[in-house]
Amino acid sequence: MKVIRDRLTRGEQADLVQTVLGIADEAPFYTPTMRGGAPFRVQITSAGVVGWTSDELGYRYVREHPGTKRPWPSIPDRTADLATAAATYAGFLGFKPDTCLVNLYRDGSKRGLHRDDDELDKTAPIVSVSLGDTCKFRFGGASKSGPFTDWELRSGDIVVFGGPSRLAWHGVSKILRGTSGLVPGGGRLNLTIRKALA
Ligand code: SIN
Ligand code: MN
Repeated sequence: MKVIRDRLTRGEQADLVQTVLGIADEAPFYTPTMRGGAPFRVQITSAGVVGWTSDELGYRYVREHPGTKRPWPSIPDRTADLATAAATYAGFLGFKPDTCLVNLYRDGSKRGLHRDDDELDKTAPIVSVSLGDTCKFRFGGASKSGPFTDWELRSGDIVVFGGPSRLAWHGVSKILRGTSGLVPGGGRLNLTIRKALA
């Protein structure tokens, strides 16, 4: 697992926010639910061949936006190239993502401890880009009960995890409200760029 600090300049961050807003024009943010019906505390959307979602059928990848029933927009080339470059920097060569999950954290949003376990290809790393407000990111290992390391992820930072850390437990415990004015309406955006299909 590698945290690449300040990977994006403020201008690049602003461009990527515009890219995300373009994705959300085609595939609007929505609030997924757990299998039992409880709503997530983040809103999500996706770009790519498939998009990650959760509802009464559980966690999975689907080919269409659950609301619009349209295919997800493509991952913009620059976003895929950024992820490939970050993966290469972290030592994972040849990363070709097929999905980009976008998480939108507003006031009080969090993401509970989980593992990214729904991808068929576990040899590829996960590339995670932070935009907007700083968050507290908790990253552990094979056990849900820890031990963990707590990181503050700031706008422009990129986390790459793969290899022995590929299935590590992780979550976002807190958003530090108002630490960045980058995201219209406030809060934080995260792009989680993955290879989901084999
Ligand atoms: C996630 O792992 O689902 C999101 C991570 C983040 O928002 O930084
Ligand atoms: Mn995750």
